Amino acid sequence: MSDGEAIEISMYERVGGMPFFETLVDHFYAGVVADEVLWPLYPDHSDLEGAKRRFTLFLGQYWGGPQTYMEERGHPKLRLRHMPFHVGPLERDRWLVHMAAAIEVTTTDESIRQELLAYFVPAAEHLRNDTGLPISSSKPN
Ligand code: HEM
Repeated sequence: MSDGEAIEISMYERVGGMPFFETLVDHFYAGVVADEVLWPLYPDHSDLEGAKRRFTLFLGQYWGGPQTYMEERGHPKLRLRHMPFHVGPLERDRWLVHMAAAIEVTTTDESIRQELLAYFVPAAEHLRNDTGLPISSSKPN
């Protein structure tokens, strides 16, 4: 009999650790690089490997893996870090399309797919920093 303590297995462990997030991010960035709306927003086109690495380490950490992202980059502060980039409804949705496609090719496990999306959909909306409406847009006319 168990002593009643729940054993929590992190997403990081369930997917087999960092290689899963490396694969996910590889597929995701293949979509972003080919996206004529998103790719121009990326600040340093010569640092694709660096951008992939930061995102991979962030995701591994977020889902229960090592704290390497925090050690290298400090607190994620994702909303603040996304402020320099125009994230309106269009950018948010295109980002999510590439992420959803990357998830589909990275795992066939339906519950893992659903859990990942259940995080990414509201997280992408949270990072939106422009309404897309002219009346409250932060963009100049
Ligand atoms: C669930 C949603 C998202 C998550 C979890 C996420 C996560 C991240 C992380 C961890 C970084 C690296 C931050 C750093 O350490 O410097 C990053 C960078 C970036 N993100 Fe996002 N992001 C999301 C959505 C978006 C969206 C919707 C856009 C739309 C344009 C976007 C554009 C960028 C850009 C341009 C960078 C800079 C790339 C770089 O690291 O050099 N992100 N994001």
